[in-house]
Amino acid sequence: MQSNYKNIIENAYNLTKPLKDLGKLATYIPELANVNPNKFGVHMTHIDGTHYGIGDNQEKFSIQSIAKVLSLTLAVKFIGEKIWTRVDVEPSGTKFDSLLLLETYNGIPRNPFVNSGAIVICDILLTHLEHAREEFLEFVRDLSDIPDLTYSDNIADSEKATGFRNVALCNFIKSLGNIKNKPEDVLDFYFDMCSLEMNCQQLSHTFAFLINGGRKLNNGKKIISRSQAKRINALMLTCGFYDESGEFAFKVGLPGKSGVGGGIVAVYPNNFTIAVWSPKLNPNGNSFKGMKLLEDITTHSEMSIF
Ligand code: DON
Repeated sequence: MQSNYKNIIENAYNLTKPLKDLGKLATYIPELANVNPNKFGVHMTHIDGTHYGIGDNQEKFSIQSIAKVLSLTLAVKFIGEKIWTRVDVEPSGTKFDSLLLLETYNGIPRNPFVNSGAIVICDILLTHLEHAREEFLEFVRDLSDIPDLTYSDNIADSEKATGFRNVALCNFIKSLGNIKNKPEDVLDFYFDMCSLEMNCQQLSHTFAFLINGGRKLNNGKKIISRSQAKRINALMLTCGFYDESGEFAFKVGLPGKSGVGGGIVAVYPNNFTIAVWSPKLNPNGNSFKGMKLLEDITTHSEMSIF
């Protein structure tokens, strides 16, 4: 890795760390409220395979909605274009768990990253894969090179006990005919999918196929085609931060995806992936300091897709 990347990350980390954190922990999933709010880590993986991190970059956290990119990738890989009849590719301009537009668009979620869209992707995977839960885990183990990766029962159970909004979303979509399996099975898989835990280094490694034309960096294995990778990156740019997607593109200028565990992954095709973790969230459900750090990195380095 060019040494200036290391300096850029260190400078951005040191500048962002002392800032007053105006965010709040996600408490609607009780298990996430137990996380130390002062954690802060970042890790960059460069296209040449070198990587660098600082802070709490080796500590695992709940990746939550970031996993929606991985379930979408599996659906695109195995089912292909057919999925776009079930979920659209437009920014929603609404909160991640909103019910609002489902009635307007007859049960077709606006995109695969809002909760409703990710729930429909889980339904599609359940229909088309014999053992979707296990096959998804195997897929992420291979992508991440974490052979013992498992779903977190604590996180999943905590969400299963309290996720009434997602239960409502799934049942409402079912009533409109766009969920084919039993809502309980779809929701179980969705909550498990969101419960995966990784650290910043592992997350930046896992997402490296999206900067490398759909192939893994370390062994060149094809995950999806170059054109499919382009589409997933386009969706992360336009929909990865819900009703803050415009602001993220405006301030950071990279495709990315956030999760309510406080993680964000951003990708710069042909260059690098960067994962950041800081648990306190802004009112739109995106990491307050994570956004600030990424804005600082792309502004000072002038590295952005625009
Ligand atoms: O379904 C939920 O509410 C969570 N499992 C995931 C939401 C999430 O991560 C939104 N991201 N910022």
